[in-house]
Amino acid sequence: MCGIVGYVGSKKATPILIDGLLSLEYRGYDSAGIATIEKDVIKVMKDKGRVNNLYNLEGINDLEGSVGIAHTRWATHGRPSKENSHPHMDNSNTFAVVHNGIIENYADLKEFLISKGYSFISQTDTEVIPNLIHYHYSNGPVSVIKDIKEKLLSAVKNAVQDLKGSYAIEVISPLCPEEIIVVRKDSPLVIGKGSNENYIASDIPAILKYTKDFYLLDDNEFAVVTKNTVTFFDSSLQEHNKPIKNIEWDANAAGKDGYEDYMLKEIFEQPTAIRETIGSRFRLGEKCSFDDIEISKEYLSKVNKIYIVACGTAMHAGLTGKTLIEKLCKIPTTVEVASEFRYRDPLIDENTLCIYISQSGETADTIAALKLAKQKNAKTIAISNVIGSSITREADYSIYTHAGPEIAVASTKAYTSQVVLIAILAMHFAEILDSSNKEVIENLKADMIDLPSKIEQILDNTEVIKDFAKKVYTEKDMFFLGRGTDYNVSLEGSLKLKEITYIHSEAYAAGELKHGPIALIENGVTVIGIITDDKLLEKSISNIQEVITRGAKTLVITNQILPNSHFDFIINIPKTNPLISPILSVIPMQLISYYIAKFKGLDVDKPRNLAKSVTVE
Ligand code: M6R
Repeated sequence: MCGIVGYVGSKKATPILIDGLLSLEYRGYDSAGIATIEKDVIKVMKDKGRVNNLYNLEGINDLEGSVGIAHTRWATHGRPSKENSHPHMDNSNTFAVVHNGIIENYADLKEFLISKGYSFISQTDTEVIPNLIHYHYSNGPVSVIKDIKEKLLSAVKNAVQDLKGSYAIEVISPLCPEEIIVVRKDSPLVIGKGSNENYIASDIPAILKYTKDFYLLDDNEFAVVTKNTVTFFDSSLQEHNKPIKNIEWDANAAGKDGYEDYMLKEIFEQPTAIRETIGSRFRLGEKCSFDDIEISKEYLSKVNKIYIVACGTAMHAGLTGKTLIEKLCKIPTTVEVASEFRYRDPLIDENTLCIYISQSGETADTIAALKLAKQKNAKTIAISNVIGSSITREADYSIYTHAGPEIAVASTKAYTSQVVLIAILAMHFAEILDSSNKEVIENLKADMIDLPSKIEQILDNTEVIKDFAKKVYTEKDMFFLGRGTDYNVSLEGSLKLKEITYIHSEAYAAGELKHGPIALIENGVTVIGIITDDKLLEKSISNIQEVITRGAKTLVITNQILPNSHFDFIINIPKTNPLISPILSVIPMQLISYYIAKFKGLDVDKPRNLAKSVTVE
């Protein structure tokens, strides 16, 4: 949550910082701010509202400095306001700080600083940081250091040692006007290497158009960034070298490419994303290959349980993963919400395999849940879209979806590519264990190869979907029903609807309806049913019939030929193996939410209260 940008070079920093903030707005967008060093003072401009608001502030173009830090905020402590916006300064205006994350002990630190004479303007947790830096710079052991650079870095280190929680921090000061000091713990931060200039960001896409060479900062690692140098230090300020990583993402892939919204672009990118996810992992007639993980038959035979742990959409992808793994590998698999898993003392031992799914690779709860499994000696595999993200650096093995940058807050292509990757992983395990009929696996592979062109067919026929959206966009409630993998995907359809249209919706296993939720069905309420599995066809139709009897208006998304029925709308999708049918049936649901949000005039890419990566608990 929240976005950070930094620039040190010879150019005017402000346009670069604003540009970076604009591409980071998906991380938070309730306030934005910038600080640059102008001769021997720090100039700060900030306000509540979006980055465009900052861009239009009077005087923003007068900021001439070529060293600067910037921030776009997703409020945690203190409502969106100018005072609560970052950057924050210490009382003497010597240190400016932007911060992502949460300082859990800020109240104690604030009390301590107040007792030492400091005062506070904001309600944020962040404001303690510049004041702590000032405190350490002027008091105690650090204050006697003669070299100003060393003294400043030591003051930052001492301040950080006082912090409990998560943080990615940038610090500037006119005391050392040509550098930015950065440090992180449990919140991402990358440094992009340019020529005679360097960039800092919380996410790679923010600075991808300037460089493809990145340093990925580790937890508790400090860096001092000047225009020509990047120097790394460990938590005791011992200097060390760090390899540079070349990121292959295309800078254009992080733009809208002519689409009105990122979400629409990302929905339409799904055929390509899936082709990339499959890559060379399998071909018909050949076994799946995962050079990036070493899982032996001996180990896998001993695995007594698999946990798939994730949040939100990634967790929904995991539900289909469970079905695939249990079906193909015959290993009991449980899907867990990371925020619950991490605190409920789950039964994990060395024969438990834990798979973590995270598009961003930065979700705080998922990372914590992974650390827990490692403590208990389980093997961990991360499935992520972001190379070098925190989760991939923690896991024993990491496999990537290669879906390209996903910018819209509502996840679309990440979901389909996660389901594809976990399906390939399940086939791979089944091949190692010899736990499934070869023909079953070959047929599944053939069906997977056909997925991109089948998605293209759905995307070529969006008129019915748009038409449905137009008829229902003023509704207050909707229900999604399905059985088996159709239920899994209903949960995702319902989440998408809530997130971007603000329509209340619920997803139910269709058979569960009569155990309570059917009481909510009344005249005119909209119910979306998903029916893609021949074996469950009749039962699913009966369940939808039950809501029609009670006055519901129904849309059915199906790959079946349905008997002449009373459904109000039908969206036909191509047939595929029921194990992977969510990859097709989710597409109309993504589009329904998208068009409803458009008809309502909402900001599709930046829905209220949300942010792309949830790096706080
Ligand atoms: O980056 P992650 O995959 O770990 O994110 C998990 C969820 O926060 C994310 O899927 C969220 O639910 C999306 N906004 C859904 O569209």
